[in-house]
Amino acid sequence: MKVTLAKSGLKGELTVPGDKSISHRALIFGALAEGITEIENFLVARDTLATLNCLKKYGVRISRSKNQVKVLGTAQNFSEPKDILNAENSGTTIRLLSGVAATFPFVSVFTGDKSLRQRPMKRVLEPLSQMGAKVLARAEGNYAPFAINGGKLVGRDFTLKKASAQVKSALILAGLRASGTTTVTEPNLSRDHTERMLEGFGVKIERSGQTIAIIGGQKLYGQKVVVPGDFSSAAFFIVAALIVPESHLLLKNVGLNPTRTGLLTVLKEMGAKINLLNLRETGGEPVGDIEVFTSPLKAVEVPPEIVPAMIDEFPILAAAMAHAEGVSVVRGAEELRIKESDRIKSIVGEFSKMGVMVEELPDGFKITGGRRPLGTIVDSHHDHRIAMTLGVLGLTAVGSTEILNAEAVAISYPDFFVQLTKLLEGA
Ligand code: S3P
Repeated sequence: MKVTLAKSGLKGELTVPGDKSISHRALIFGALAEGITEIENFLVARDTLATLNCLKKYGVRISRSKNQVKVLGTAQNFSEPKDILNAENSGTTIRLLSGVAATFPFVSVFTGDKSLRQRPMKRVLEPLSQMGAKVLARAEGNYAPFAINGGKLVGRDFTLKKASAQVKSALILAGLRASGTTTVTEPNLSRDHTERMLEGFGVKIERSGQTIAIIGGQKLYGQKVVVPGDFSSAAFFIVAALIVPESHLLLKNVGLNPTRTGLLTVLKEMGAKINLLNLRETGGEPVGDIEVFTSPLKAVEVPPEIVPAMIDEFPILAAAMAHAEGVSVVRGAEELRIKESDRIKSIVGEFSKMGVMVEELPDGFKITGGRRPLGTIVDSHHDHRIAMTLGVLGLTAVGSTEILNAEAVAISYPDFFVQLTKLLEGA
């Protein structure tokens, strides 16, 4: 994919695709529920289709027409998959479904692509075995492929070392079918879509501060789920509009759950002119429109406690930092090293190629901003968010930027470059 210096600003309106986290959860909860679940504005992308295909292997009947999905609930009756479950590139698929697999008295074997097979699984497999599941995993219990033989689980209390919505959600799903009560305490609150949506499906969850408690043996009832636009996808256009001169963009119907929108707080501190309009609630999730104007940005130090609320936005935040006057610092974000790529290395390596002054830190990075990037050949490291970030940065670079392995955008946003081009042409 080739991107050239934008000749005009990004102007007009855009509706980004449905939220990835919410789409995964709607499928899984619908599969466990009694009755039919209808999902509107489902994200059709590789990650969410991986969840859909795994659920089909459990015997769940799912039909889809474009972004409308119908799930025939099994009332918590999955059947033993006759083949390996391939989560492909999706951490949410493998970790959330592990929580479900742990509750069924049969064998589930999971694998994923090269990236997923290098991402840590002990964080979810260890607590699941403490609840009573039998787990056998490669590399001393840490990596996929792994097998889970589930069954009668016992509720337990867990304190996570790192905030993680995937681990929290896996333990909630296991706790839902365990005896007694399961509690999960996080050091900071990670995205809470599981808690919100389960409540919509009729499940009682007690929440106080960073602790959630769930009593086992509860039923779920099929629902209509309307998926809001994905804030993490909108983030690329928010930053693009901030850094491409003369932009004025309206992003419509975007999920604004506060456990996801840390980027807005940081960008506002950097001087971004962003308005939230038409605020409302859809299916227990806050939603609104985001208006963005090109803004002069100043450097920022990201407070570590905000990291979980913007964990997927650091690549695109780095692009904003490259255009901010002064030295910006990210710390306390070592989790970035175990995402779809080592995102600290990907950002530092590829931004340096484009002439950005960036320094690697063990748990983050430092960027001295304000200089125009230079177009060159860069690589996504097969990471969707790195591909989109380089596409946005390329709009502000002298010359042209060629992004290798740009097809990684299909993981969460297959039409990203099509929509970006339309916005530039429509100006
Ligand atoms: C997700 C949780 C986050 C996030 C990922 C989606 C989810 O991962 O990075 O893109 O849907 O629960 P962690 O739980 O590993 O922080």
